[in-house]
Amino acid sequence: MAGKDISGLRILGEKHIPGHQLTALFESLHWSSGRFPEKLVLAVANSHTVTSLWDGDTLVGLVTAISDGALCAYFPYVAIHPDYQGLGLGSRLLREAMKPYRGFHHVSLISYAEKEGFYLRNGFSHDPGKKALFAKT
Ligand SMILES: CC(C)(COP(=O)(O)OP(=O)(O)OC[C@H]1O[C@@H](n2cnc3c(N)ncnc32)[C@H](O)[C@@H]1OP(=O)(O)O)[C@@H](O)C(=O)NCCC(=O)NCCS
Repeated sequence: MAGKDISGLRILGEKHIPGHQLTALFESLHWSSGRFPEKLVLAVANSHTVTSLWDGDTLVGLVTAISDGALCAYFPYVAIHPDYQGLGLGSRLLREAMKPYRGFHHVSLISYAEKEGFYLRNGFSHDPGKKALFAKT
């Protein structure tokens, strides 16, 4: 959003984020997991690392990582509130979130088709020999 003052935004690594903050962010993006605040709080708290972006007391960005701590890391959530998108904050937060996993064997995520360009600009690429598959649960 043009003209927005982002100088005071803070990046935190705290894993225990209140449910109402997570719900507000997820609902702003129309993500269905926003409807399950208790599970969302658990999912974030149980992540290997959590990198969040705050404007004062308001959560405006989130990247979570699931990892074995040695070889593999996966990023299930990469989110910037719509009012804060297009300001370089997604890249900044993702860069910060990826730091603990430098040198790991596999660092991956599943992108929406229309967000692929964002990840290609941020150090991800296609592996022609591999394809993501999803279990029916
Ligand atoms: C995807 C998302 C995290 C990007 O965050 P952002 O803060 O808006 O992105 P940035 O401002 O850091 O953009 C960095 C670069 O990626 C580009 N980019 C951003 N979104 C893009 C898209 N959908 N397609 C192609 N390029 C994109 C920007 O133009 C910018 O390019 P530049 O470096 O050449 O200027 C954010 O838009 C978002 O949270 N979207 C909704 C939730 C979502 O879909 N998350 C991803 C799930 S796979």
